[in-house]
Amino acid sequence: MKITVVGAGNVGATCAEAMVRMELATEIVLLDIKEGFAEGKAMDMNQCATLHGFDAKVKGVTSDYAATAGSEVVVITSGLPRKPGMTREELIGTNAGIVRSVVSNALAHSPNAIIVVISNPMDTMTYLAAKESGLPKNRIIGMGGILDSSRFKYYLSEAMGVPASDLQGSVIGGHGDTTMIPLTRLATYQSTPVSSHLSEEKLAEVKAATMVGGATLTGLIGTSAWYAPGAAGAALVASIVRDQKKVFPCCVYLDGEYGQSDICLGVPVVIGKNGWEKIVDYKLNDEEQSAFNKSADAVRAMNAVLGTL
Ligand code: 2OP
Repeated sequence: MKITVVGAGNVGATCAEAMVRMELATEIVLLDIKEGFAEGKAMDMNQCATLHGFDAKVKGVTSDYAATAGSEVVVITSGLPRKPGMTREELIGTNAGIVRSVVSNALAHSPNAIIVVISNPMDTMTYLAAKESGLPKNRIIGMGGILDSSRFKYYLSEAMGVPASDLQGSVIGGHGDTTMIPLTRLATYQSTPVSSHLSEEKLAEVKAATMVGGATLTGLIGTSAWYAPGAAGAALVASIVRDQKKVFPCCVYLDGEYGQSDICLGVPVVIGKNGWEKIVDYKLNDEEQSAFNKSADAVRAMNAVLGTL
């Protein structure tokens, strides 16, 4: 089995490294346009085989899509990352062209692949991939909500002083600083609502910190984060190739679900060998649904920019 990661930058390389350590495929192809870049990163990763104890291999290639042929999953991370002070949305012009060409090259060699989109602005790039690829909608998945939910649980765990692994919580809506919706009402700590452990003010702080979680890291590091984005991509691919049927908030094409159509937006979905297999209905209250609709309006406005490029 083969998995391809397009883009050997920080997120792509971290995702490939997580996947090879998990042995999600016998071969993980890492492709980049910069001569020798993916080859070097792949060699570095392969030299960890005896240290971490894995037998899978990473194959680095420069723009050689033929080497990706027959991939079961193609993860797209290519495009510009954010600089401090920049929103994900400002990347649209450059990244749309890149994602468009990656999708068509990748599918030419792996027509049955499931496409995972990580490039920003993720909701619009997922929509672009869905529209241009002509693939059945379940085979296009944007990875944003898994990362945002992981950050949500991190901030909850910090506020509550409990392990993040004892928490459950989801972030739906867009993957943008103002469009994501951390669902504080539904978040739990060992089967008890987090609202019974944190004051309303504290919960509001957690929510706000989650929404700007990516920007906080960009400010600190000087570029987009990569450990959690890469790990979140690997967790998503694991559920596909191992047919785990995990429920993750992911960006998928909506056809009336959650009251929205002709848009890709984050909702909880079951992830298995067929891609996203089912949308889970969280039965949002009025306030949450109105936040979801606002998020959809903002993402739809951004999608409209695609037509002007
Ligand atoms: C983030 O939120 C890169 O969009 C990604 O860190």
